[in-house]
Amino acid sequence: MTPDERRKALDAIADEIRDCTRCRLHEGRTRSVPGEGNAETEVVLVGEGPGFNEDRQGQPFVGAAGSFLTELLGTVGWRRDDVFITNVVKCRPPGNRDPEPDEIGACTPYLRRQLDVIDPALVVTLGRHSLGSFLPGARIGQVHGTARPGTTELGPETGLVFAMYHPAAALHQGSLRQTLLDDAPAIPVALLDARERRERIAAAESHPQPALPEAQPAAELDPQPALPEAQPGTDQLTLFTRDARTDPR
Ligand code: URA
Repeated sequence: MTPDERRKALDAIADEIRDCTRCRLHEGRTRSVPGEGNAETEVVLVGEGPGFNEDRQGQPFVGAAGSFLTELLGTVGWRRDDVFITNVVKCRPPGNRDPEPDEIGACTPYLRRQLDVIDPALVVTLGRHSLGSFLPGARIGQVHGTARPGTTELGPETGLVFAMYHPAAALHQGSLRQTLLDDAPAIPVALLDARERRERIAAAESHPQPALPEAQPAAELDPQPALPEAQPGTDQLTLFTRDARTDPR
């Protein structure tokens, strides 16, 4: 997909979300909130659902929790428009209640399509409901600040899921603010791991290990291509957009 095709595909999904009536949440919404950000990014942040301000503005994370999220991204040198930000449910649950399982079920196909288009190396889950969509059964208290492969159809395919507490939790429970700040530096490190994992899987797929011919001396076998050496240093922590990736699609 070219960048233009990718942007158009995301816009088409957003148009559908704006008119969506798949679940009861559409009845109380002012505006649905499809998500926004860099279509070429390697990192997608997934929150739970729009709150009061997001419902008014049609944009994700624009209230107090959004300011803290922007601050968290800033601590690792990233800006909001370096990443793509969306939610598990795209319409505000009344009174900011938790989304119901059937509401999440109705909305998940949109998230899945967004992730299929962006194909991120890393998904950062914000809060319990987002975590549950990628790693069902995982406990936020145990997995926050760490990355692992997702276990649902949401993937990300060959990439990793990094779990964080919800930024709004820091507004209600002061000690979680420091936990979120402590976990943030691990996000770019998880991106490095996710890139490496992708490269490893892509290399294995494009150079499948040939079946060993019988009794052939090892020296005569095709050498496997060496993976690029890890280059330590802060440059590697830079968030690249797709045109700087080594795997243009
Ligand atoms: N909380 C969320 O989970 N998402 C938003 O967009 C805003 C607040």
